[in-house]
Amino acid sequence: MNKYIAFVLVVAAFIVQANAQCAQNASGTPGSCLCNLGYYGTNAEANGACNQCPTGTLTAAPSSSAGGNTNSGADITVCSVCDKNYYMNKSAGSTAGYKNTPAAAICNACPPGSGNSGVSVQGDVTQCNICTKNYYMTALPVAANAGQNIVAAAATCVFCPDGSSNANGATSVGNVSQCNTCLPNFYMQTAATGSKQAICQSCPIGSGNASGPTAVSDLSVCNICIKNYYMTATASTGVAAKCSPCPANSTNSGSTSISSISSCTCFDSNAVPLSSTITNCQCQNGYFGNVATVLGQLTGCKQCPKGQFTSAGANCNICTAGSTINSDQGGCTCNDSSTGTLPWNPLTNVCECQSGYYGNPSTATTKGTTGSCISCPKGTQSTSGSAQAASDCTQIPGAIVYSVIIYFSAALGTLAILI
Ligand SMILES: *[C@@H]1O[C@H](CO)[C@@H](O)[C@H](O)[C@H]1NC(C)=O
Ligand SMILES: *[C@@H]1O[C@H](CO)[C@@H](O)[C@H](O)[C@H]1NC(C)=O
Ligand SMILES: *[C@@H]1O[C@H](CO)[C@@H](O)[C@H](O)[C@H]1NC(C)=O
Ligand SMILES: *[C@@H]1O[C@H](CO)[C@@H](O)[C@H](O)[C@H]1NC(C)=O
Ligand SMILES: *[C@@H]1O[C@H](CO)[C@@H](O)[C@H](O)[C@H]1NC(C)=O
Ligand SMILES: *[C@@H]1O[C@H](CO)[C@@H](O)[C@H](O)[C@H]1NC(C)=O
Repeated sequence: MNKYIAFVLVVAAFIVQANAQCAQNASGTPGSCLCNLGYYGTNAEANGACNQCPTGTLTAAPSSSAGGNTNSGADITVCSVCDKNYYMNKSAGSTAGYKNTPAAAICNACPPGSGNSGVSVQGDVTQCNICTKNYYMTALPVAANAGQNIVAAAATCVFCPDGSSNANGATSVGNVSQCNTCLPNFYMQTAATGSKQAICQSCPIGSGNASGPTAVSDLSVCNICIKNYYMTATASTGVAAKCSPCPANSTNSGSTSISSISSCTCFDSNAVPLSSTITNCQCQNGYFGNVATVLGQLTGCKQCPKGQFTSAGANCNICTAGSTINSDQGGCTCNDSSTGTLPWNPLTNVCECQSGYYGNPSTATTKGTTGSCISCPKGTQSTSGSAQAASDCTQIPGAIVYSVIIYFSAALGTLAILI
């Protein structure tokens, strides 16, 4: 075999190797893939499958040794340990009797508030021997004693009161003073003492603290805005961040720095984006109806039929004579928009002359027509839309007296020149 062919073969083998993959939920190198922690399968290569262990159960760390969740012969009995906060009612193994069905460990959830860091041997509820985050412990687990009619019990765990918390949970018996931190969105006024929990106060409306304070703190720890609020001023010594609510029917994920109403998104996908000028959720131009009032709800804004306009969700309408619909179906533009015509107005939907002009722009047959409105003759006036012909313009009161004076002064001037 010449060197060139050998080289090509090595490269080809490398490409095959690189393209090959492990099964879903497996990792490692093709040829020696292992199912991930919590998955079992007899073949973790691309053509095999790794199955998730039953709820509450896990595997030991992936391993190719016997009993590991390996390529070969790893059935559901590798789901032999319990996940954290579960106790083991029955260990994994093949059940005696009918067909010796292999079975995972049976792991039951610990009673609320109690927990553990995972167990690998069969036991009972006394395996739930700690209190989880935000609970304090008033009693250790109690072992069963059939003779004394005592049933097994988990550690007794009580929820921390009034916004106080226990960030790390409790591993020994104590009292409410184990609640020495505050829940997120509270600030700590007084630290936990001998037999009292930390005194925690709610952050002012809309403001919050994502991690939850662990020490006495002033309002300045309320330095974020919670979901559905945007920040108008940052927190400073003794003062919480100022947070404004998103308008009804809109949402955001909160904010950690100055932001605006435009950080809020209307639930309705066909709503106008919020801005300093659009401060409530409404259907966008060309769509009529009511915006969705629930996140994820179908749009309540429906597009108007072709040739009809609407804005702010109002009913669809046909453009008035002498106007042309805008491309976004949000309104119309008068065919004549030259001097003297009033711009099209959604409230009136007419094309007419402004005050002081006469004419009829509703007959303008093409976009860009000019001169439909003409100034009323000197000394006359009109209110907008009232005059179609020059004779519809009315005398300006006092204009007669004024023109008579002009006439007389002109006459006097002429007289003076003649003299
Ligand atoms: C297992 O695989 C599925 C499909 O790829 C994936 O959606 C899932 O997140 C995986 N589970 C874990 C725990 O990685
Ligand atoms: C533990 O398992 C046994 C059967 O193996 C069952 O009778 C019992 O109800 C289980 N206990 C709990 C708390 O699930
Ligand atoms: C509560 O627990 C704390 C800390 O362990 C202890 O100092 C205090 O005496 C206890 N209070 C009561 C009433 O037992
Ligand atoms: C929450 O409070 C802690 C002080 O306990 C502070 O350091 C932190 O910046 C605050 N904000 C957030 C977002 O956690
Ligand atoms: C929220 O949407 C509903 C339905 O469109 C509407 O009736 C309500 O007025 C909206 N709320 C606000 C404040 O815009
Ligand atoms: C206004 O102009 C458009 C486009 O040029 C035209 O289609 C429409 O018929 C005109 N309106 C009137 C009343 O003539």
